Amino acid sequence: MAGSHLADFLLAEHPEVGVFGTKRWRSRMDNIAHAADRINLIDCDLTDPFAVTKMIGEVRPDYIFHLAAQSFVPESWTGPHATITDNITMQLNIFEAVRAHKLDPVIQVALSSEEYGRVFENELPINENNDLRPLSPYAVSKVTQDMLAYQYQQSYGLKVIRTRTFNHEGPRRGDVFVTSNFAKQVAEIEAGIRPPVIKVGNLEARRDWSDVRDVVRAYWLAVNHCEPGEVYVIASGTTRTIQEMLDFLISKSSAECKVEVDPLRLRPSDVLVLHGDPSKFKKATGWTAEFTFEQMMIDLLDYWREKIGVADESGAASKVLSAGKTAR
Ligand code: GDD
Repeated sequence: MAGSHLADFLLAEHPEVGVFGTKRWRSRMDNIAHAADRINLIDCDLTDPFAVTKMIGEVRPDYIFHLAAQSFVPESWTGPHATITDNITMQLNIFEAVRAHKLDPVIQVALSSEEYGRVFENELPINENNDLRPLSPYAVSKVTQDMLAYQYQQSYGLKVIRTRTFNHEGPRRGDVFVTSNFAKQVAEIEAGIRPPVIKVGNLEARRDWSDVRDVVRAYWLAVNHCEPGEVYVIASGTTRTIQEMLDFLISKSSAECKVEVDPLRLRPSDVLVLHGDPSKFKKATGWTAEFTFEQMMIDLLDYWREKIGVADESGAASKVLSAGKTAR
C-alpha cells in the first residue's frame, strides 16, 4: 500500500525523479498496475543478498525508501522466525549492497510505533525519547531494524533517516488490518454477500491513525530535510479507540450491522494505546496532514465498495460480481 502511494506521489509531484520499485515474481500487482508503465519495476527478493546487490548496482539510487516488511502483527506470533529474520535480513542486504557499491544515497527506513509496545498513560503522547517495550516478534524486528539503522549510520556514515510511523491507512490497505478489514466487511454486508455481522477483535485499543497519502509525503520530506542517524515520530497526534473507528464506519452505511467478537482476532499481548507526538518531525520538515481521519475512512470504504461492486451508501449493488470472483 505505502509503496504504491509513494510512487503516485512522486509521479504526480516530482516528475524530475525516476521511480524504481522492487517486486517478487509472485507479488500482487493490483495496487500498482495503474502506474506500472511509468515506473521501473525490478524483480528482486530483498531477502536474497545476491539479488539485492545486483539490483542496487544497476539502479544506483539517490534515495531509498525501505518500506518492505512482514508487517501484520498477528502473523509474527504464528511465524516469529520468518518475521524476525526477513525483516532484519532485508534491511541488512540493502545496507551492505549500498556499501559494496560505495554509494551514498539517503535511506529512509520505515520503523513503527509498535516498537513502543507497552506504554503507560502518564507517558503519552509518545515521542522519540519514550522507552521501547516491544510486545510482539514483529515489534522486536522493528526495534532491531531501528538499532541496525542507527549502528550503520554511526559505523559507516550511511545517511539513514529513521521514521517511527504510527498507523497509516487509506485506499489499497491490505484487508487483514483493522480499518480495512472492517470497511471491507461493511461493504460486503451492503453488497449482500456477507451476513450482517461484523467480526471484531479488541475494540478498546487506541490508535493514532494518519492517511497513507500524508505519510508518503512525509517520507519525501524526511529524505530531503531530516538528519541522518536521527529518529522521527510521524503521527497525527490524535487517538481514537477501535470502537470509535468502527462506529464511524457503521454511521457511513445504511446497512444494519451487528458486531460480534471473534476470539481468534484477540492477540496474546495487544498494544493498548498509541498516541504520537510528531513535533520533532514537523519542526524539521514543516509537514502537516492534509487528510482528515473521516476522509481517510470514507475513501477506504469507497475503495472496498468499488472493488466489491457497491456504488453508494444506499447499499444497492451497482455491478454484478462475476462468477468465482472473490472480494479480497
Ligand atoms: N487486524 C485486526 N483485525 N485488528 C483488530 C481487529 C480485527 O478484527 N479487531 C480489533 N483489532 C485491534 C488490534 O487488536 C489492534 O489493537 C488494532 O486493532 C490495530 O490493529 P491493526 O490494524 O492490525 O494494526 P497494528 O496496530 O497491529 O499494526 C499496524 O500499525 C503499525 C504501526 O503502529 C501495522 O500496519 C504495522 O505494520 C505497523 O507497524
